[in-house]
Amino acid sequence: MPWTELKPRKFAAFDKELDGISRQTMQDHYKLYEGYAKKANECRKILNEFDYSQIEGNQVYSPLRAVSVDYTFALLGYKNHDLYFGHLGGDGGAPTGRFAELAESEFNGVEKWQDAVKKAASAARGWVMVGYDLNDGSLFNYIMDSQNLWAVYNMVPVLAIDVYEHAYVRDFGATPDGRKQYVEAFFRNLDWDHVNRQLAQAEAAKQGADSSVSEPAVP
Ligand SMILES: [Fe+2]
Repeated sequence: MPWTELKPRKFAAFDKELDGISRQTMQDHYKLYEGYAKKANECRKILNEFDYSQIEGNQVYSPLRAVSVDYTFALLGYKNHDLYFGHLGGDGGAPTGRFAELAESEFNGVEKWQDAVKKAASAARGWVMVGYDLNDGSLFNYIMDSQNLWAVYNMVPVLAIDVYEHAYVRDFGATPDGRKQYVEAFFRNLDWDHVNRQLAQAEAAKQGADSSVSEPAVP
């Protein structure tokens, strides 16, 4: 399928008052998301239009290298916020459905997963992704120091906490305690149905991948 330009989407979270996260924070945050879409499109277009028979490939500095790296920052800025805004606007509460089942078994209890993910949110510099691994079907909390650093292949994010200061400084202040209060507010507004839809898609993708692998030959 050929690449098509990214377009910022509309999210239900912007049609309601969130608990603790202000409308101004959300509106300012959305502008960043729009910027990531614009820059991802710009980078992708440049990468598509380079004359690769002439362009320099240089690992110290080259336009090819610079745009390629910045493309991942812009693209994941778009993708991460797509999930983040998509699963805000809910009623919060305890994890539900399949997510709760997996968290229960992976972390020895849902409460232990909650402790782990909140502590991860204090330890990350950019994002915490709760991701489903397409290879082994496990659920894990991944710390990301920016939106394009430390994610692993075949991990499908099903829950994304933005811990960059722009997500909380207006409402809670730029302190570690302010971040903790923001993370509590994030969970009060989380839409667990959206999280479970993400997880259902990831599990379906794993099933599809597993069924497409041919049986090993009998020696
Ligand atoms: Fe953000």
